[in-house]
Amino acid sequence: MRQSSLVVVANRLPLDDSAAPDGACEWRRSPGGLASALHAILQQTPATWIGWNGGIDSAPVLPDIGTLRIRPIALSEKELRGYYEGFANSTLWPLYHDAVEQPVFHRDWFQTYRDVNRRFAEAAAEVAEPGAAIWVQDYHLQLVPGLLRELRPDVLIGFFLHVPFPPPELFMQLPRRTELLTGMLGADLVGLQRPQAAHNVAQLATKLLGAQATDDQITLDGRVVRTGAFPVSIDVSEMAALAARPDVVKRAAKMRADLGQPRRVLLSVDRLDYTKGIEHRLTAYSELLRDGRVKVRDTVMVQVAVPSRERVDSYRVLRDRIEGEVGRINGEYGRVGEPAIHYLNQPFDRADLAALYLTADLMVVTPLRDGMNLVAKEYVAARADGTGALVLSEFAGAAAEFEHAFLVNPHDVDGLKATLLSAMGAEPADLRRRMRAMREHLSGHDILAWARAYLTALDHTGRLAAGLLR
Ligand code: ADP
Ligand code: F6P
Repeated sequence: MRQSSLVVVANRLPLDDSAAPDGACEWRRSPGGLASALHAILQQTPATWIGWNGGIDSAPVLPDIGTLRIRPIALSEKELRGYYEGFANSTLWPLYHDAVEQPVFHRDWFQTYRDVNRRFAEAAAEVAEPGAAIWVQDYHLQLVPGLLRELRPDVLIGFFLHVPFPPPELFMQLPRRTELLTGMLGADLVGLQRPQAAHNVAQLATKLLGAQATDDQITLDGRVVRTGAFPVSIDVSEMAALAARPDVVKRAAKMRADLGQPRRVLLSVDRLDYTKGIEHRLTAYSELLRDGRVKVRDTVMVQVAVPSRERVDSYRVLRDRIEGEVGRINGEYGRVGEPAIHYLNQPFDRADLAALYLTADLMVVTPLRDGMNLVAKEYVAARADGTGALVLSEFAGAAAEFEHAFLVNPHDVDGLKATLLSAMGAEPADLRRRMRAMREHLSGHDILAWARAYLTALDHTGRLAAGLLR
């Protein structure tokens, strides 16, 4: 077994099952922030990525990608139900997102979650060379840091949570709260998206574990765990280069023409998830049409909603509701050849996404809660000419960085309508000023800066950060 000095452990590999079998391995990026972020830095880094490839009972041998080794973990049907669809996505996901959907507590799921976490931990322990760093990602694998500490006390253990960490009163609802918190605090460094999340972890460590805790350091059983905010980002140069490619620019022009130029284009791009506030935005748009404030002859909405977690009931129900609402809005307000909404329930490749971003006059991002929201950053990275407006929920992590966006509370439908109207009516000079400020911030805070900051904090020698190749 070849070993690595950096091992990344994430639930999902960036390759999906269908891309795997013939060994013709190309990056087929799974939609989702984690794969987008890590793909950008790891494809040229000497490391091993351990994860699930999206299939059932399959773990094909996957060739290296550049300098990155891929090590798939097979999940059985029972494990998928209990670990991924169950505890991770029906208990932790809703709870960590302000319980916008009711979390489900099912006793059997936790046992499966623990067993699967152990398998990931064992795989990581096996491929980590002596003194290596193991970087564990996200809420699916929250017990892995603690398990690794038992298996491999010689390694550096990092943990990064891509989603929000909830306030204590919500976390306290979890039946296995102590074990989950202790598991995560098995890491040497716990990275979070926002300082508030680090504060929540400190409060819980004091309350549940009796630890001595500040917002950047927790002392537990004589061991120091560091915590801190490391807001994740995107590969800015990749998106900028895509958006500048002549074929992409041409594709965008064609899309605009197909959408009925000079109609104003409102774009949203989400995984089809109840945290994304898709229904709130449809309500606001539909009311603007009803009130005659927006006319189908001069405005069109494009909603990309890529299927996600489709075997989980709440996602199926949400999809039905959204599709019913899109049908209703088009039925009521659309005209022949001029639908009010184009609804696209499919994955797009990166070039098509870039073309869509170029097409959009308004990017409408309205999650009810979101760890970061990389789509908002991708839009800003694509808008080199300084045009375009970003309407952004205050409850996305990105809002802390993009104060020049049109910030909005998506729960307030009247406020959302008013913000959409003011973004549509903004002066070009105002839009350019806002976009320039957001682009300036983003260029200094790309994904490489994120990885460097995290890995330097994990390993003060700078060895790990230096290994990030470009
Ligand atoms: P989340 O991690 O909750 O899915 P983010 O906005 O942070 O939300 O990340 C979503 C990522 O998935 C982005 O990089 C985006 O480009 C990608 N993505 C979203 N929709 C699609 C789609 N239809 N096809 C391909 N990639 C998509
Ligand atoms: O960014 C949050 C996240 O949950 C990632 O961990 C995950 O990969 C992504 O959203 C997409 O979700 P899934 O892997 O369930 O398709």
